[in-house]
Amino acid sequence: MSNLVADGPLRVLVARAVFPDVIEPLRAVAEVETTPDDAIATPEALRQRLADKHGAFITGSERIDAALLDACPQLLVVSTMTVGVDHIDLAACAERGVTVTHAPDVLTETTADFGFALLLAAARQVGEAERYLRAGQWKKWSVDLFAGADVHGATLGIVGMGRIGQAIARRAAHGFNMRVLYHNRKRLAAHLEDDLRASYRELPELLCESRHVLLALPYSPAAYHLIGATELAQMQPGATLVNIARGGVVDETALAHALHSGHLGAAGLDVFEGEPAVNPALLAAPRLVLTPHIASSSIPTRRAMAQLAVDNLVAVLQGQPPITPVA
Ligand code: DGY
Repeated sequence: MSNLVADGPLRVLVARAVFPDVIEPLRAVAEVETTPDDAIATPEALRQRLADKHGAFITGSERIDAALLDACPQLLVVSTMTVGVDHIDLAACAERGVTVTHAPDVLTETTADFGFALLLAAARQVGEAERYLRAGQWKKWSVDLFAGADVHGATLGIVGMGRIGQAIARRAAHGFNMRVLYHNRKRLAAHLEDDLRASYRELPELLCESRHVLLALPYSPAAYHLIGATELAQMQPGATLVNIARGGVVDETALAHALHSGHLGAAGLDVFEGEPAVNPALLAAPRLVLTPHIASSSIPTRRAMAQLAVDNLVAVLQGQPPITPVA
């Protein structure tokens, strides 16, 4: 069943506070309801706000499910300014003829930069060292003060070799002279492996051969707790784990144990299973750098993500093909 094109004025909800100048072109094709206070609507409030809308501009914090779609019969298009679409029930959208668009490519390099920042910060204990200094605990230079692991020249295992994984591999191989291993649903073409200087491994082999492991895979139910106690035990003693994928990929309690026991050298997390709530076990764990889901958050990139989401909405509402539909 497909939603009908409106005969009256088109209406769009911009569900969060977004750069006003980027949103402006939407006003030429639709009446726009904005969210200046940036409040995250409850599921019920989001249903109410979208009930008479034809288009939705959302972020990863707004969940689009079958119940919401059934309450919003005029909805034609959902445009998320994220690349990840795990907050959208794609099958339910397809069944109801609702087009879904997302924002790939524009955030790849910025997110890869941050993945590397988190890897460096975790391996070199930047977070703990800064807290130590600010707390007035620094009394003398010492040989082993915050002595961490080297990143340059080490083996990096990347789980998820999509656009972001590949951008990280490029930095690692070409900038940091690292040996790069990767695991992916599909093995890359040989010329890409050569270009990235990356070798394919099954997950257990990748975990046991890598000094540092970085997770950059898209989330699906199959990825739930992909890294649990068993996988953490397969990692090298002293290894580093970095997660810029989704919180659900890592069993957070098992990770906290692996840090407390000393088996894992360090970890860096930008994403959390219950975000914005953070598991207290993580807050209490040592050698762990925590950031609030900001890997794509540079000003130019956040503007580009919002711009692409707006361009997608305008295209679909004008009856043209979306620029970046969810495949
Ligand atoms: C995405 O785009 O999916 C990110 O996680 C949000 O920055």
